[in-house]
Amino acid sequence: MNLYEAIFVRKSVRKYKMQAIDQTRLDGILHFAESLPMLFEGISVEYKIIDNTEQNQGLSGAFLVKAPYYLIIASDTSQNYKINSGYLLQQISLYLTAKGLGSCYLGSAKPKKDILAGLQHEYVMALAFGEGDQEVYRTAEKAKRLPESDIAVYKTEVKKPVRTLIKAARLAPSSMNSQPWRFVVYNNRIHVFCKKNIFLSSVLSEIKLIDIGVCLANLLVAAEELWVDVQLLRLDNISSTVFKKNEYILSIKLC
Ligand SMILES: Cc1cc2nc3c(=O)[nH]c(=O)nc-3n(C[C@H](O)[C@H](O)[C@H](O)COP(=O)(O)O)c2cc1C
Repeated sequence: MNLYEAIFVRKSVRKYKMQAIDQTRLDGILHFAESLPMLFEGISVEYKIIDNTEQNQGLSGAFLVKAPYYLIIASDTSQNYKINSGYLLQQISLYLTAKGLGSCYLGSAKPKKDILAGLQHEYVMALAFGEGDQEVYRTAEKAKRLPESDIAVYKTEVKKPVRTLIKAARLAPSSMNSQPWRFVVYNNRIHVFCKKNIFLSSVLSEIKLIDIGVCLANLLVAAEELWVDVQLLRLDNISSTVFKKNEYILSIKLC
């Protein structure tokens, strides 16, 4: 299974066997993570795998999932670092899926003080992972997602690859399954928007930026699978009349 195929079977796994994973496999996970290019040039990140097989060795917080391992990502705080972190974590989650392991994002968990103190950058998020004590795969039809017509508007006729990219993006996981992404498609350009908070309409909640990065990972993994070259653009003065109360994030040009 490759990363693209993993998009269609991945699910959040919240029950794990607390058994150790072979060190070679753990090294493979870190190696994969460290080989990932950044979505935005110049951002520096670091990863750490926390061994929790002895339990309660590293993370605490709300909605914590007990798992034998946690992969944490820390980043410098340059522009778009949250989107970038989501983009990286989702590829790691897909890699774990492809390797038969379960994973689950932990948006509210915090590492304990000694772990935080050992990080060079700011802690961003954790991903629980390990051998699932439940099925780690699910068919795409079973994923609870908004219909494509709610999240994407096609302003022109588009070629099939564009629709394939949107279908992959639609399946992305998000915090509380909020699915904040919206797409307006013109010819070979996909304009990406994010739903604003209802109460703080001009400010995107930080976690939504991670969600957007997660979604962009699905979209760009699909582009790679289809051998479609893409360019990320940030256009000035773009707003959506279709998706009101949304904030423009960026555009993806299919070359
Ligand atoms: C940024 C982010 C944060 C999340 N935080 C948590 C969390 O703290 N606890 C949890 O159990 N699930 C968490 N999730 C998992 C979502 O609840 C889950 O992805 C969503 O409900 C869709 O389900 P699926 O992943 O099985 O498709 C998070 C997901 C994302 C992308």
